[in-house]
Amino acid sequence: MKIGVLTSGGDAPGMNAALRVIAVLGTAQGHEVLGIRRGYEGLLAGDVVTLTPGMVEGIARAGGTMLGSARSKIFPTPEGQAQAKAKIRELGLEGLVVIGGNGSLTGAHLLGQDKPCRIVGIPASIDNDVGYSMMSIGVDTAVNTIVEACDRISDTARAHRRAFVVEVMGRHCGFLAMRAGIAAEADAILYGEDGDKTLDELTERLTGVLRRCFGGNSEKKRCLIVKAEGVEVPTKDIVARLQSFLDAELPGVDCRETVLGHVVRGGNPSALDRLIAQRLGYAAGAALLRGAHDVMVGWDVPATVGQDTGDRRVRMVPIGEALEETKCLLDGTSPVARARITLLEKVEQLLSM
Ligand code: F6P
Repeated sequence: MKIGVLTSGGDAPGMNAALRVIAVLGTAQGHEVLGIRRGYEGLLAGDVVTLTPGMVEGIARAGGTMLGSARSKIFPTPEGQAQAKAKIRELGLEGLVVIGGNGSLTGAHLLGQDKPCRIVGIPASIDNDVGYSMMSIGVDTAVNTIVEACDRISDTARAHRRAFVVEVMGRHCGFLAMRAGIAAEADAILYGEDGDKTLDELTERLTGVLRRCFGGNSEKKRCLIVKAEGVEVPTKDIVARLQSFLDAELPGVDCRETVLGHVVRGGNPSALDRLIAQRLGYAAGAALLRGAHDVMVGWDVPATVGQDTGDRRVRMVPIGEALEETKCLLDGTSPVARARITLLEKVEQLLSM
């Protein structure tokens, strides 16, 4: 069998570890594994390389993706879909493994409709924005990177008794802010899943946090606000408002802004990400070889959803179902999102104590 594998969308630490397993497993079972460069863009162009175990040796530890990635604008269009199907036929691909996030899996599902070949997806996105996978590849590393950055910022913040608003990636999903905020002892965490907030609403909440941190006889030396990128009010506007409040009520305290941006996406994968990537990669490769199509393998999927894979942490779910759950995860209506929000609401007042 000829199997293609590609990484698509925002790269995520651990993608290489997943690629490695697909290449090794496929080759070990006598199949040819083609690495498709630059995601769907490379598929459209037929830009491929045969992956051998020797070529992928040692790549599990590396960040980014050895195949490169892209956000293809043409691929989802009818012309792009026709071109992709023609290329699959031309290359003789019988199976395709797509490693990527929400957008990439949506693309995989679309392409899979006429079954040009078997297609299996693996969730990989630092945002953790894929339904029916409690962790996507890259999330653990990104959380650790944010926590380390916040620890460093906290050192300098305490030296000057300052407030910081730290913006972290997560275009539509606040998971990184939630998880890393708790670990970094943030005083407040802002995320979009509980509905859009205006600048006035955010200011009202955050001035209360600043009063608790720096007012009265509080001995706190730092106020850390972790904000998800997906919160629509610009970080600089929040910082400007908080600074005006501080100047009026708590003079001498400064508020600064740090946008971590792509720093959060780079770096070598953590051991946990390598492990998740290799187990998801193995399950995806094995499922594809067994004949599975239009499914995704997920990490810690509820036992009521999808099918067993033989790995107790990994289940196989139809991509369409995972995408439906993704919508609910992002608009806050999924039980998973509700549980996260409820927990944070419960401890909101305690965070800034
Ligand atoms: O990979 C997901 C993500 O990191 C989002 O959190 C972020 O908004 C986006 O990618 C940035 O993408 P790009 O690098 O294409 O600008």
